[in-house]
Amino acid sequence: MSNLKLGILASGRGSNFQSIIDAISSMRLKAEIAVLITDNPLAFAVERAKKHGIEYLVIRPKEFASKDDFFIKIAEELKKRDVGLVVLAGFMRIVGKPLIDAFPNMIMNIHPALLPSFPGLHGQKQAIEYGVKISGCTVHFVEEGIDTGPVIIQAAVPVFQDDTEETLSERILKLEHSIYPEAIRLFSEGRIEIEGKRVRIKEYVSSDISIVNPPIPKSLNPYIA
Ligand code: GRF
Repeated sequence: MSNLKLGILASGRGSNFQSIIDAISSMRLKAEIAVLITDNPLAFAVERAKKHGIEYLVIRPKEFASKDDFFIKIAEELKKRDVGLVVLAGFMRIVGKPLIDAFPNMIMNIHPALLPSFPGLHGQKQAIEYGVKISGCTVHFVEEGIDTGPVIIQAAVPVFQDDTEETLSERILKLEHSIYPEAIRLFSEGRIEIEGKRVRIKEYVSSDISIVNPPIPKSLNPYIA
C-alpha cells in the first residue's frame, strides 16, 4: 500500500512540522510529506522545507478576491498532490468551508491547551490567567467551529505558580512534538473512527497513546502500581 500523503499548512516557526519530518525519517511514522503550504513567505517552516527537499508553496490571501477563493486554491493544490491528510502546524488562519468540505474529517490541528478549555489564540496565556493547575495540548479534527472538532489525543502538563507564558509554552511544546506524529500515525494506519464527537482508536494497544503523562505524583496515581 502506498504511503499516506500529508499536506502541511504552517504560518510560522514550524517546530511541529519538524517533528513530523523527524518522525518520518526515523520510521516512527510511515507517511510522506507531499507539500508545505504557507501564507507567510517569511515563515521559518519554509527553511525547514528547503533543508529537507520538501516542495513548498506560498499562497497569500491578498492575492484572491475572497477568503473562499484562497481556500479553494489551497484545496486544489492539495488534491493535485493526492493528499490524504491535511495537517495544520501553526497555521494562523481560521480554515474556510471550501477546504473543510474538500477534506471531511481529513484535517488535523494541534492546540496548546486541553480543549474545550482555552480555544482560540494564546491558549497557554489563557490557562495561566485562569489559574488552572493542569494544562496541555490537544490534537483534534478540524470542523467549522474554532477548535471544536473531535479530540484525537491529549497530553497534560502541570502549570506551576511561577510559570510565564513562555515557560508553560515550552513545556507544552515538548509534548506537542510527540503527540502530533502519534495522531498522524494512528490515522495513517486507518485506526481512527469518529462517532459523533468521540474518536475511537481501533485495535487499541497499550503502546498507543490517547492521553499522555498525567502530572500526578506516582505515589498518588491509582493507575500506577
Ligand atoms: C503551537 O503551539 C501549536 O500548538 C499552535 O501553534 C504553535 C505552532 O508552533 N497551533 P510551531 O510553528 O509548530 O513551532
